[in-house]
Amino acid sequence: MLVELTVNGELKSADCPPETTLLKFLREHLMLTGAKLGCDVGDCGTCTVIVDGKSVNSCLMLAARAAGRDITTIEGLANAQQVHPIQEAFEELGSLQCGFCGPGMIMSAKNLLDKNPTASRPEIKDALSGNLCRCTGYTKIIEAIEDAGRVMSSTKPLHSNL
Ligand code: FES
Ligand code: FES
Repeated sequence: MLVELTVNGELKSADCPPETTLLKFLREHLMLTGAKLGCDVGDCGTCTVIVDGKSVNSCLMLAARAAGRDITTIEGLANAQQVHPIQEAFEELGSLQCGFCGPGMIMSAKNLLDKNPTASRPEIKDALSGNLCRCTGYTKIIEAIEDAGRVMSSTKPLHSNL
C-alpha cells in the first residue's frame, strides 16, 4: 500500500506491506534510522517519535495509521548549523553512554518541553516513564532536560555552562 505522511516538515511517501509499523517505515522505507528498534513491544521507548504533537512508540503504530499525519523524528531537531538545546544539554552534561536510548529520550523530552519548558523534575520523570536507559542511569539525563528547558525559557541552566 502507498503511505503518504509528513516527516520533519517534508511530504514523504513509500509503498509498504499493510502490516508495516511506523518505526519500520521510517527506518527501512524512508531511511530515517534515528528512532531505534529496541523491544518492539512498547516497553523501552527507543522508537519514540512525535505524531501530531504527541509522543508515540512508533513500533506500536502501523504506518497506515500515520498516513496524513505530521511526524517529527530526531533527524528533524538539528540542522547543519545548529543542534537543538536538548541535544546540546545532553552533550554538555555527558548524559549518554552507549547512546541507544538517546533519540527516544530526547524526543520524549522535546514533546514535554515544547508544551512546558519550565517542567518540574517530577514532570520530567513522568514524561520519561516510558523510556528505559540500560547504562547511564537517569540523573544526567534529567539534569540535561532541566537545563534545556531553562535555555528554551531563557533562564540560566542549573547544571551546565550552556
Ligand atoms: Fe518501541 Fe521498544 S522499540 S518501545
Ligand atoms: Fe545506553 Fe541509555 S546510554 S541505553
